[in-house]
Amino acid sequence: MKSETTLTNGVIECILSRTAAKYYDTSATLSDEVIRDLVRIGTTAPTSFHLQNWRFIAVRSREAKARLRPIAWDQPATTEAAVTFIVCGQLVETSVIPERLAPLVAAGVMPASMVPDWEIPARDLYMAFPQRRRDEAVRSATFGAAAMIYAARSLGLGSTPMIGFDADAVHREFGLADDEVPVMLLSVGPERAGNWAQKPRRPVADVLDLV
Ligand SMILES: Cc1cc2nc3c(=O)[nH]c(=O)nc-3n(C[C@H](O)[C@H](O)[C@H](O)COP(=O)(O)O)c2cc1C
Repeated sequence: MKSETTLTNGVIECILSRTAAKYYDTSATLSDEVIRDLVRIGTTAPTSFHLQNWRFIAVRSREAKARLRPIAWDQPATTEAAVTFIVCGQLVETSVIPERLAPLVAAGVMPASMVPDWEIPARDLYMAFPQRRRDEAVRSATFGAAAMIYAARSLGLGSTPMIGFDADAVHREFGLADDEVPVMLLSVGPERAGNWAQKPRRPVADVLDLV
């Protein structure tokens, strides 16, 4: 796909060359430090009002993988990839905003007087609207997962976002809180041979309106 764009640099090449991996090196592991770093990178993704309404469960032990696979459509990636993250979004709760913004205030990024200017409109936007609270959980988790996907790619690791799982069962089995939505599974790890070549995309002319 690279040749189809006039924009090129290392980041764009990383984005353009990603594919969803099906086959992983089953003997590979990722250290907890690398797993932490991937999540740290994920958490630099943007969130509405800096809510950071997400949580990541790294399923990387043999025992935890064995619990995940049967409730994830028996998808091999859940046990064969080095790690599968359960990427959770949290229903928006705007009363946490002062606490979430406190480190920005302490770091001098944002004046303390501005905190209510974020909390009040956020409360009015979300709190009476369950669908919006959930939409934002899904958006935040998706941005976080996307950052992890491209970071993994840049490190030569494959990844697979997966919606093929029983959300209620994952919620129960991995002890998610009532306000947490298992937005997607994200397998990450070194690949093995046999993964598909990149799939062609719809033409830009079919998906872009220039207005
Ligand atoms: C939200 C979402 C859910 C997906 N769920 C699964 C899944 O459960 N199992 C799977 O093997 N691939 C899954 N995929 C991967 C897609 O099939 C894949 O991204 C798509 O075919 C495009 O291929 P590419 O990622 O290699 O470009 C999912 C992708 C997304 C974005």
